[in-house]
Parts: sequence; structure tokens; C-alpha cells
Amino acid sequence: MTDVIKAAALALEAGRLVALPTETVYGLGADAENPAAVAAIYAAKGRPQDHPVIVHVAPGVDLDYWATDIPSEARQLADAFWPGPLTMILKRAPHIPDAVSGGQDTVGIRCPSHPVAIELLQAFKGGKGGIAAPSANKFGAVSPTTAQHVRDEFGDDIGEHGRIAFVLDGGQSEVGIESTIVDLSRLATHGPVLLRPGHISADAIAAVIDQVPARPDAAAPRASGTLESHYAPHTPVAMQDTATLADTLSRLQEAGRKVALIHYSDLAATHAAVRLPASPEGFAHALYAALRAMDGAGADVILVEAPPQDGPWLGVNDRLRRAAHGSTGIVHGLINNTTAL
Ligand code: TXA
Ligand code: MG
Repeated sequence: MTDVIKAAALALEAGRLVALPTETVYGLGADAENPAAVAAIYAAKGRPQDHPVIVHVAPGVDLDYWATDIPSEARQLADAFWPGPLTMILKRAPHIPDAVSGGQDTVGIRCPSHPVAIELLQAFKGGKGGIAAPSANKFGAVSPTTAQHVRDEFGDDIGEHGRIAFVLDGGQSEVGIESTIVDLSRLATHGPVLLRPGHISADAIAAVIDQVPARPDAAAPRASGTLESHYAPHTPVAMQDTATLADTLSRLQEAGRKVALIHYSDLAATHAAVRLPASPEGFAHALYAALRAMDGAGADVILVEAPPQDGPWLGVNDRLRRAAHGSTGIVHGLINNTTAL
């Protein structure tokens, strides 16, 4: 174990925050069994207190320590996908603090696969602890996929005198979008429910437990990552189909507008652009870094080439739809000069 991991584990045990890499996005971690430490996450993020956070656990964890009434399907999914980008919502064990569960009777649990996250989890409380960690961004902002993104977001709050003792650097997150969340806490009455699509698809889950997760209904647990306005940069985001993109681009440019483009097809250069891989995995891997870069480009709008709509693209479409929420009519307004410069 490296000295920095050891120091980070000690900091967590002392009730401080540590930002850690995971294979999905970077997390802002605290001891899940220390309510004051978990409260510090909310304070640092500027996040409402009633939003639950995911508890990250080491490989081989005793699920019965964290949850009750665990269905066999949960153990099957853990065997199939952990360590990995799947979060399961289960009935919480009585000792889980309200700060973690957001006052609900459930807890979200995931065993991440990033080697640095695993090392930290194994060092922390002798491998028996849980690290409560939402994505390491300010509330509502784009999730970080590099240590630099975390430093950009929390600057002064990092270090000896800040809330965040360490930012562990594990390189760029492989998956790039947040974990799939499946609710198994009401399995007997409602079946499995997909609360957030991600790298692990509904089909992959169904292949293990023989039941296709349903889309969330009104009674499903609240999830802040499912707020319409989540994952949004400051610059308005608009999506355009490949067929209309080139035309929209030239009309925006004729109207004197600065466009930051995120695309995967062959297109002429603009004010600023990032070309992403045309595969769902490659697109997801680079998406948040692209949104952050284009947000910093001083453009009037971030124009995104709408990805295909089929199954493997569900996760990126979900995040893009949320990033674009509230920007309806922005492109039309910019072309017709009805939006102030
Ligand atoms: O990939 C990920 O899941 C990343 C990394 C750091 O693990 N974490 C992450 O955390 O995305 P966060 O807090 O940004 O999003 C977690 C989502 C939120 O929408 C939260 O409301 C939901 O999980 N969640 C957590 N516990 C829950 C529970 N008991 N019931 C329902 N939703 C829950
Ligand atoms: Mg988040």
C-alpha cells in the first residue's frame, strides 16, 4: 500500500473527506458510518441534505452488514458485476445513518473496480468500512472524470485547511458516466427498477436475474441524479440530429454566434469542437471532459450531435437530455437574434 493511500484512509477514519477515482466518475468520499463526515460532503457540494449517497464497499463485502431483507437476486448481481459500475438499492440496515439514506429506508451500495478505490477501501477500517461518496462535483454540475476536474471544482476546499484532505489521482475514469442504479428494495412487489441507466445495461441485468428492470414509477425512491436539470454545464446545451447539424451550424455562424461543438461524425471545424468516438463506450468515456472543455470555450451554445437512440446509447442519451434540459428554443433564439448577445 502506498503512503498516500494509507494517509487518505487515516483521514477518512478521522472524519475528513477524500476525493477518490472510480471507474465511472470521481467520488467525494466520507466514512459512511460517521454522520458528521457525511454532512461535510453535503456542505462541500452544496447539495440538499435529503438526497441519499451511495456507499462504496470493498470486494467480498458482507452485504448483510449494510442491508436487510436482501433478495438472492442482489447477491447474483453482485457476483456478476462487482467490482464494477452497478449500484443496488436495498433495504438499509438499522445502523446506516439518515445522512447516508436521505432519511429513506433504503441504502445504495456499490463495489467499484478502480484499483485505487479498491486499495483505499481495503486500507480504510481494515476493509470493513463503507465510503459514502456522491460524484465529486458541486450540486447539479457535470461529474468529474479526472483529478484535475475535482481540483478545478473545489480549489480552496482541498488540503490541510479545507474540507477535502486528499484528491487521489487515478487517471481518467474508464467508463465516464455514473453507475447504473437498480432498485431491488421493492423486488417482491414491484420487481427490479432501473433508476439510472449506465454502462451495465438493463439487458445485462436481465440476463443474470431473469427479470427485465422496469422504468421508474412515481413511488420509486428519489434520486438526485434523476433530477431533470442534473449534469448541466453553465453554457446552454442543445442536441441536433446528424442530418440537421451542418445546416444549424452554418445558420448559427451566419447569425454571428459562437458554437462549441461535440460531435462524432465528420464535420467542418467551428469556434471550438471536440470529436468523440462513435461507439457508446468511447463516447461515454470522453463525454464529461468534452462538456467541461466546451463549457470553458466562451461559446453561446454547446451543440451536441445527438447519438443513436438504441440500447447501448441509453446512458449517454439520459445524461445529455438532462444537460440540455431548460435550453429548449435556444438554437432558434440564437439564429433569429431573439436571445441577447
Ligand atoms: O458511479 C457512481 O455512481 C458515482 C461514483 C462516485 O460511484 N457516484 C454517483 O453518486 O454518481 P451521486 O450521488 O452523484 O449519484 C448517486 C445517485 C443519486 O441520484 C442518489 O439519489 C441515488 O444515487 N441514490 C443513492 N442512494 C439511494 C437510495 N437509497 N435510494 C435511491 N436513490 C439513491
Ligand atoms: Mg452526481
